Amino acid sequence: MLLAEHISFAYNGREALHDLSFSVKKGMFLGIIGPNGAGKSTLLKVLMGLLQPGQGRVLLQGKTVHSYASKELALLRAYVPQSLNIPFTFQVKQIVEMGRYARMKHIFHLDAESVAIVDQALRQLDLWNLRNRNFSQLSGGEQQRTLIASALAQQSALIFLDEPTSSLDLNHQQRIFRNIKRLVREEQKTTVLVTHDINLAAQFCDYLILLSDGRMVARGKPDQVLQFDLIQQVYGVKVYIDINPFTKSIYLLPYEANQNDT
Ligand SMILES: Nc1ncnc2c1ncn2[C@@H]1O[C@H](COP(=O)(O)OP(=O)(O)OP(=O)(O)O)[C@@H](O)[C@H]1O
Ligand SMILES: [Mg+2]
Repeated sequence: MLLAEHISFAYNGREALHDLSFSVKKGMFLGIIGPNGAGKSTLLKVLMGLLQPGQGRVLLQGKTVHSYASKELALLRAYVPQSLNIPFTFQVKQIVEMGRYARMKHIFHLDAESVAIVDQALRQLDLWNLRNRNFSQLSGGEQQRTLIASALAQQSALIFLDEPTSSLDLNHQQRIFRNIKRLVREEQKTTVLVTHDINLAAQFCDYLILLSDGRMVARGKPDQVLQFDLIQQVYGVKVYIDINPFTKSIYLLPYEANQNDT
């Protein structure tokens, strides 16, 4: 579904990604983790085709991302960016409806199917009671949920999310990951999600990639990537690692930052 081959990327000569290669099969839920500045958002933008890699290429369904027409790409993938300033005063519902426009023949006229999909996305993200509210007047977490709802309403085969749960409460964090997992399982959506919520990623993602300084330092199932030494080396914190008795997934608890890193 998605193939990244030897991707490197530099901002004004300063390397942000170094020779990254990996593939994501259809129906796979991939989590990308790593410290601030590791290159996670940059990688997502390269995978989306928003940034052109200096070296290497990205293939989506066998074609390079840049060979798609913009309309085709809009149908193929949805994106929830890490931050987005929406300057106009749109209602929550209108922003979720925007997710449908890539599919519409007549812009600004949603068919019955789209109306139903928008309603479903609003309910899934617990936004039904907020649907007529002004986006700019929502809390950070409510805004984040609106953008996720808009991306899900797009119903694209590929979904890219950049820290979608960074402002969410415990309940909504779980709901987002659970919803995405269900889409991955039931509808074979291919999902790439960047997050600092390592324990949620370990619970829900099929595979993890750990980035550090633009390099892939580990990849594999969560229990292969979340190793004491590796986490300490990459993040500069000591962690306690165990299995959650309820979910049976691996989790970590940081307990001390390395002295040298302060
Ligand atoms: N537009 C830009 N121009 C120049 N340098 C940039 C730009 N965007 C990011 N960088 C740099 O590239 C590196 C990777 O940034 P990126 O945003 O991909 O990190 P990240 O892993 O997403 O971090 P975070 O967890 O803080 O979101 C950082 O050193 C950053 O300062
Ligand atoms: Mg980022």
